[in-house]
Amino acid sequence: MPLPVSTVILGTGAYAPARVLTNTELALTIDTSDEWIVSRSGIRERHIAAPGEMTSDMAVHAARLALADAKLQPADIDLLVIATITPDMPMPATACSVQHKLGLSTSTACFDLNAACSGFIYALDTACAMIGSGRYRHALVIGVEKLSSIVDWTDRTTCVLFGDGAGAAVIGASARPAVGLIGAKLGSYGDCVDLLCIPAGGSNTPASTGSLASRDHFLKMKGKEVFKYAVRGMEEAARDILEQHGIAANQINLVIPHQANLRIIESIAQYLELPMERFFVNLDRYGNTSAASIPIALDEARRAGRINPGDLTLLVAFGAGLTYGSALIRW
Ligand code: ACO
Repeated sequence: MPLPVSTVILGTGAYAPARVLTNTELALTIDTSDEWIVSRSGIRERHIAAPGEMTSDMAVHAARLALADAKLQPADIDLLVIATITPDMPMPATACSVQHKLGLSTSTACFDLNAACSGFIYALDTACAMIGSGRYRHALVIGVEKLSSIVDWTDRTTCVLFGDGAGAAVIGASARPAVGLIGAKLGSYGDCVDLLCIPAGGSNTPASTGSLASRDHFLKMKGKEVFKYAVRGMEEAARDILEQHGIAANQINLVIPHQANLRIIESIAQYLELPMERFFVNLDRYGNTSAASIPIALDEARRAGRINPGDLTLLVAFGAGLTYGSALIRW
């Protein structure tokens, strides 16, 4: 196969479970308030998966919409990358279940990728590189999370922040030069693993009655420290990619940031000297959906007419690891 000139997003789709959990409802079960959550994070409500609804089920919904948007069939896909920290099971990869549920060919390369909230950007860059190699035709890249299954619903410092959902993109080659993924910058502060983690259930602390009793299978976060690194990581990731490609911030038509906290997004806007109107924000309705946050926002932005041919979009994220990433897309 000849090497493609560009790798482009051919279609997107998103899914959120029907159940909406408002701040006011949360305040009935834990010591919090709508006022506290909105003023500290900007979040008003989040979607919660139904009992028995798995990560793979949400991924399939988003994937079908992305395939329809791209006007492609399951048989056209030969690469499936799923970014998630909440797989159906610790092993095998959720991508294998999604492959089966979608009816993808058995010769599809399927794997999961764990870069937490930066996961979609990591997966997008990986898929584009694989398409760029000329050895794959069409990739399905999905960011999906059932964070309600790892959140400690008795811990008010974390449970108010997260939600469930899925976003997907279909990637393919294009003969048009200088469109699609222009570049990506990925990185990690690996010395900060303990700031945001699930301490038990891995090789460090295998599951035991003790780990269950200490609630160590739930997500733990030092919010204040994560906040500082989030601002630093996203600023660096945005600045580096713009410098690398000789692009001024005001040339970006729309920034799609990871939807964790409105105050973090406002800091990035200030740093880039861009008005908030250039940022797509939907965290008020979804909370932080980790790897799903950027693809859900990307799909909403496209369907709302916020992205047009020729536009330049900047994706920027940070997450557990602490990972960070940015990507520039020309439409
Ligand atoms: N309701 C009411 N009060 C609360 C709540 C709550 N839900 N949670 C904490 N508080 C209290 C605290 O106990 C504290 O009280 P104290 O002063 O008496 O001790 C007070 O509110 C202030 O708490 P802070 O932690 O200082 O609040 P802060 O303004 O830093 O906001 C927040 C906390 C929203 C968690 C913020 O630090 C944040 O957004 N951090 C980043 C988190 C993030 O984005 N993580 C993303 C990565 S997720 C991933 O990769 C999966």
